[in-house]
Amino acid sequence: MQILTTIADTRHWRRSIAVNTPRATLGIVPTMGALHEGHISLIRAARAGNDVVAATIFVNPLQFGPNEDLSTYPRTFEADCALLEREGVDVLFAPSPEDMYPNGAETYVNVPNIGSRLDGASRPGHFRGVATVVTKLFNILQPHRAYFGQKDAAQVAVLHAMVRDLNIDIDLIVGPTARDADGLALSSRNRYLSASEREQALALPRALQCVARAVANGNHSAPLLREALQQHLKQAEGLRLDYADLVDPNTLQPVEIAGTGTLIAVAAYVGSTRLIDNAVIPVPAEAHP
Ligand code: PAJ
Repeated sequence: MQILTTIADTRHWRRSIAVNTPRATLGIVPTMGALHEGHISLIRAARAGNDVVAATIFVNPLQFGPNEDLSTYPRTFEADCALLEREGVDVLFAPSPEDMYPNGAETYVNVPNIGSRLDGASRPGHFRGVATVVTKLFNILQPHRAYFGQKDAAQVAVLHAMVRDLNIDIDLIVGPTARDADGLALSSRNRYLSASEREQALALPRALQCVARAVANGNHSAPLLREALQQHLKQAEGLRLDYADLVDPNTLQPVEIAGTGTLIAVAAYVGSTRLIDNAVIPVPAEAHP
């Protein structure tokens, strides 16, 4: 695996594949590192669907708020490189903040409405940071496909809107949320949790399952389900609720009727760690052929 740490080298590499293997498809997996099986599942999907695969590791300062965990965000570069190498990644792009945001940079990509819902409501500016860095990665790497996780459902909605509105000719491929055996969604931030906090965090997937079951049993009233979801999480020991909602997966606006495709999205603090999770209401079992 080639490790490229500057934009200039990466552009050079990109041009060389365009010239030497013009028909090769490039898939990219943008990450902030501290890789786990969730990231790896995206890498595998990219590896299976493309001739050339690039991963990126960049802890993007623009998407962290002033009181968030930028300085303590887990950094495990050596282990990440070994994992990516093992998965057959061709190139790792790992730029410095100075290269990505030189003095004088002043242009942002903003998705103002969708980007201010769910995580965007509790983390102002977060999705402007995400949309800006992903646009830069797209421009630098010029992939055919880019892989993102359903775990960050609001991020997926923001990026779909961005690609649509700016006519970006890149397919976004969304991979399912990878979970530990007990149901907790994998996250780089899980390593902040103590053993007892990790136990308490299980209230998130349990609350999602509870609501998904209620819908499967015929309860489609989103206001009632929302209330039940919020009560469930407010009563969970050790949890401080940030948001819990039933929304349209594309606009992230609250729905009145919950049905197939409705996104159930939750965020809560366990101790000082903010965790998110979500579930999409499936097609009813009897509707399967
Ligand atoms: P990061 O949190 O490192 O996640 C990188 C990618 O892995 C994202 O697309 C995320 O949705 C996906 N991912 C994380 N946990 C997952 C899980 N349990 N199952 C499946 N996929 C999972 O998301 C970011 O970085 C950044 O915002 C980024 C897009 C790189 C822009 O800076």
